[in-house]
Amino acid sequence: MIPYGKQELSEKDLDAVNSVLKSDYWTQGPKIEEFENKFADFCKSKYAVACSSGTAALHLSYLTQKSSRKNGNKVLTTPLSFSATSNAMLYCGLVPEFVDIDPNTLIIDFNELEVKLSNSPEEYVGISIVHFAGLYANMEALYKLATEYELWIIEDCCHAPGANFLTSSDTVSQSGSCNFSSCSTFSFHPVKHIACGEGGMITTNNKATYDKLKSLRSHGLSKIGTPETGLWLQELYELGFNYRMSDINAALGISQLERIQYSISRRNEIAKKYDLELQRLPLKLAPRGNGIHAFHLYVIQTPKRKELYDFLREREILTQVHYKPIHTTNYYIEKVLKSKISLPKVEKYYEECLSLPIFPSLTEKDLTFIINSIKEFFEN
Ligand SMILES: Cc1ncc(COP(=O)(O)O)c(C=O)c1O
Repeated sequence: MIPYGKQELSEKDLDAVNSVLKSDYWTQGPKIEEFENKFADFCKSKYAVACSSGTAALHLSYLTQKSSRKNGNKVLTTPLSFSATSNAMLYCGLVPEFVDIDPNTLIIDFNELEVKLSNSPEEYVGISIVHFAGLYANMEALYKLATEYELWIIEDCCHAPGANFLTSSDTVSQSGSCNFSSCSTFSFHPVKHIACGEGGMITTNNKATYDKLKSLRSHGLSKIGTPETGLWLQELYELGFNYRMSDINAALGISQLERIQYSISRRNEIAKKYDLELQRLPLKLAPRGNGIHAFHLYVIQTPKRKELYDFLREREILTQVHYKPIHTTNYYIEKVLKSKISLPKVEKYYEECLSLPIFPSLTEKDLTFIINSIKEFFEN
């Protein structure tokens, strides 16, 4: 079977994990800070905080923003994401307000966002954006809008480590740099670019946010001991969680981070080949931005989605559908929105989307087989 995404394990990864297993610290040890520092350097942010998953990263990030700037609880977000993006809002009393996508980027539609904001500016406290599939949004434009309406921005960068976009002054702004947001969040689930088993990371440039994230990640405890009081002294100031990453996971993350440029360039090679080989077929190719695309996913759109999915599956090519729009899921209809809402652009996308296999170890032979199979499907 050829899956749509797959983790990779090197000898170096194994050595890195082994050496932690043989060390004194399986958790709360030195690998966490090393991973955080290397990840912050990679993203060009001031700070990074490792945690147990991308979902935990979102939850903690929302918590840091919850009471800042404005009162209220509504957050503008996309329905096209893994449900964690909005679930994590619900964990802390924030309420997602879904805005349709721009079909040209598959990212939240900035024009529709602006309409909502200008109609009832007082209702919203923040924006949560997802750089869907790895295409990095125009954060400069979003930041302008958010500043005008005094909103915070959280970036869900789970699909987009290493992605970037070109600003209006022709500078490159990197995913996770938080040049235009309060926090950016990442996941290290095995289908992602950096796989730790489970794991997540938050980047930020704000020291107060960083301190709060570190406290909330570990129960709300802070070390306050001095040689005079006793170095053991800790105090519980707020209600936090155990969202820590283990040193075992961090060692794997550090080792995988060393290969990320290769991972992104191989994904781009595969995407380029799909673009070239599939361009004449009656389907919509994956959209592009103006900078580096991280290509977590390569999504095509065709009205014959179901037939193509079945055809490829018979040949042991496992494509996938990302995602059922969150506002159409049972829980959101019954418990969150309390009615069905209509967001036509994302709903049409959902009827036609299919994620093709894309991962660094996909061989040229398998890639050619996938492409030829798709051609064969449309030619018959
Ligand atoms: C866009 C997006 N946000 C959040 C998450 C949640 O990450 P995790 O599975 O590490 O909790 C994922 C993971 O699949 C994701 O794709």
